Amino acid sequence: MKRIKISDLTNSEEFGSEVLVMGWVRTVRDSKNVAFIAMNDGSCLRNAQIVADMTVIDAEIIDKINSGASLRVVGKLVESMGKGQKNEVQAISIEVLGEANPDHYPMQPKRHSLEFLRENAHLRFRTNLFGAINRVRHNMIFAVHRFFNDRGFYNVHTPIITASDAEGAGEMFHVTAFDMKNPPKTKDGDIDWSKDFFGHETNLTVSGQLEGELAAMALSQIYTFGPTFRAENSNTSRHLAEFWMIEPEVAFADNHDNMNLAEDMLKYLVDYALKNCAEDLEFLEQRLLNEEKEKPQNERSEMTLREKLRFVLDNDFERITYTEAIDILKNSPAQKKKKFVYPIQDWGTDLQSEHERYLVEKHFKKPVILTDYPKEIKAFYMKQNPDGKTVAAMDVLFPQIGEIIGGSQREENYDKLMTRMKEMNIPAESMWWYLDTRRFGSAVHAGFGLGFERLMLFVTGMTNIRDVIPFPRTPKNAAF
Ligand code: 4AD
Ligand code: MG
Repeated sequence: MKRIKISDLTNSEEFGSEVLVMGWVRTVRDSKNVAFIAMNDGSCLRNAQIVADMTVIDAEIIDKINSGASLRVVGKLVESMGKGQKNEVQAISIEVLGEANPDHYPMQPKRHSLEFLRENAHLRFRTNLFGAINRVRHNMIFAVHRFFNDRGFYNVHTPIITASDAEGAGEMFHVTAFDMKNPPKTKDGDIDWSKDFFGHETNLTVSGQLEGELAAMALSQIYTFGPTFRAENSNTSRHLAEFWMIEPEVAFADNHDNMNLAEDMLKYLVDYALKNCAEDLEFLEQRLLNEEKEKPQNERSEMTLREKLRFVLDNDFERITYTEAIDILKNSPAQKKKKFVYPIQDWGTDLQSEHERYLVEKHFKKPVILTDYPKEIKAFYMKQNPDGKTVAAMDVLFPQIGEIIGGSQREENYDKLMTRMKEMNIPAESMWWYLDTRRFGSAVHAGFGLGFERLMLFVTGMTNIRDVIPFPRTPKNAAF
């Protein structure tokens, strides 16, 4: 007999037919002579309702059916009299494939804190919440590829081990094959990287952009979707040391085209989630509503999760320059009432996420794209504006999250790029391959990076980035 997935089973009306179902026990409820088993196989949020009649199934087997056990059930599909499900399976035979001793199994059939679930990340997949999050995550991965494929973009695999620092921020994890207790040394006593595996110092990539640009200079429209690594010691609810980034790069496109692509992509992804993850989003929305009930009235959100998602679809993103944003922030009630932890100083300082969120949540009340940042606070590769002070950058800011996308038009002029690299102490010699694209057939081009887990935060309404990636890597934590 072929196994039926619970997503299909729970919709089936083939009453009287025999089915084979496999999955993990969520809860067991004993009543006089029957046990009601809620079983889940991850194919959807819904559980199969298994009815085990003790005159049919041995008491010895029923004894082993605890939360967490894996089962193989053969039974008859019958219409359900109970509320909440269409059908149930009257068990003919049950095989306990793997027991879960209730004295030791950590996942009790009750609400666990997110903290506890993080400590049990190996088992948290088995909760409704993490089942929902991971199904949404899969759908978003799929939608990213579909979005770009439909628009004629090619997916390019850029290297994970590199010898460059794309963002120039020095936040890299070293990669070495040396025995670090005893690495070869130069005459001066420094580590001799020329003797290392790759013949020079290497690190895990912070971004696939630089190699993505090389591909865009031939394939016109490319995107990368890979893991990126940052050794920044920011222990916040929005930073990971290992996260996934989507980086499109487009030749013959300027920063306006770039903004249009970013807005189209975000709207496409949100729309895809609403259409394809309805059941899981409804669950996530309900979870938030329950959480809200515990907050004071004035701190409750005005919109439900799906209303927030629809709101993004229905509104044009606000596009303003960094300079305009500074003016708004300087004159804001929040600045005057000293509500910012970091009060806005002068033009030229970087914005904190409290400022980004103020613009989005309080001032415009919709997503904002900030452009034309001071060149001092942005990476070396950004297109220099004629004013000599700003670069054609663009950051997309979202409610609750702040920066969800960072991108720019790129400096395609060899001399200007070279000058900027020197000013910023970027080692030009080792980046000859990057500079070559500006020497041979250079063209206007632009791109951006979407932090995949930040998108996941927005779509699921979760507030801690550690909960939207299966196994988070953060400072002092690489368990699992
Ligand atoms: O703004 P960032 O640093 O831009 C780049 O890396 C460019 N090379 C992208 C490009 O133009 N191709 O990072 C892009 C996005 C951010 O907007 C944010 O969403 C996410 O990546 N991000 C992080 N997400 C989780 N944890 C971190 N530590 C992150 N750092 C950046
Ligand atoms: Mg950025």
